[in-house]
Amino acid sequence: MSKQTQKVRKAVIPAAGLGTRFLPATKAIPKEMLPIVDIPTVQYIVEEAVASGIEEILIITNSNKHCMENHFDKDYELEARLTESGKMKEVEMINDIANMANIYYVRQKEPKGLGHAVLCAKSFIGNEPFAVLLGDDVVINKGGEPALKQLIHAYDKHHASVVGVQTVAEDQVSKYGIVAPNQNVPADGRAVKLDNMVEKPSQEEAPSQMAVLGRYVLTPEIFELLESQEAGAGGEIQLTDAICRLIDTQAVYAYDFEGTRYDVGDKFGFIKATIDFALERPELKDQVMAYIQSIAEKN
Ligand code: UTP
Repeated sequence: MSKQTQKVRKAVIPAAGLGTRFLPATKAIPKEMLPIVDIPTVQYIVEEAVASGIEEILIITNSNKHCMENHFDKDYELEARLTESGKMKEVEMINDIANMANIYYVRQKEPKGLGHAVLCAKSFIGNEPFAVLLGDDVVINKGGEPALKQLIHAYDKHHASVVGVQTVAEDQVSKYGIVAPNQNVPADGRAVKLDNMVEKPSQEEAPSQMAVLGRYVLTPEIFELLESQEAGAGGEIQLTDAICRLIDTQAVYAYDFEGTRYDVGDKFGFIKATIDFALERPELKDQVMAYIQSIAEKN
């Protein structure tokens, strides 16, 4: 099968960052294990990957990896205790998590940046296109296709790497990788061909307001580029810089995906996600809403 027609079957979830913005919580647990209501962020990400047709997932971890491995593993002791006390709904819930997907782990020995974390997946991926999903960005597309699936459709159509983007406010561009669309190629629906990408540009330097938000489908040629990629912004090996070099040799597209995206790597984004997700839970909705209203009345 030619590379161009290969299916996107594998995904990488980098979860080896220091999580500085969430210290001290992230001293002993990765930020991807922080729960939104009662589900760790990484589980939402795995669910999105599975719902997008991904068959095998590699999580890039650091020395705090055990809690993540345990979360997606069978827990016979817990299962036995829950069964003894007749908590069969909970038994089903923990078994569903263990059966969710084929998940593998590899350790990034030093937090040298997102690009370096993705490079740790090289031998797992081999020579096929693959997805990258960041735990920082949780995307909910209620009633529609998951964000990653939308990108995979764009990959299948254009046979080229696709980065997921959404428009951010002008004063927010310096927090993201910002894409520069090719002005000579008309947009194809929500997909635009790229000329360039800039990591965390100033407002003046930003080529657009379209920010890369934690979802990618990449061709395996990215690995050669990551291997020779020098440290960039923040002294880290940046995935954005390697994708920029990929643009010199292959077409790369940005896809403006549909869905509400929560920046859960940021404290306020995390709080917003917690409130919105709680309001989606029938057992919590009324209490949470009444509480928010009571706060609003007091202030
Ligand atoms: P971030 O830059 O948002 O994560 O990386 P961070 O470094 O943990 O965050 P702060 O700024 O210190 O709070 C985006 C994603 O890349 C992963 C992170 O786990 C996160 O999912 N990452 C980052 C790695 O896996 N390894 C790295 O060396 C850096």
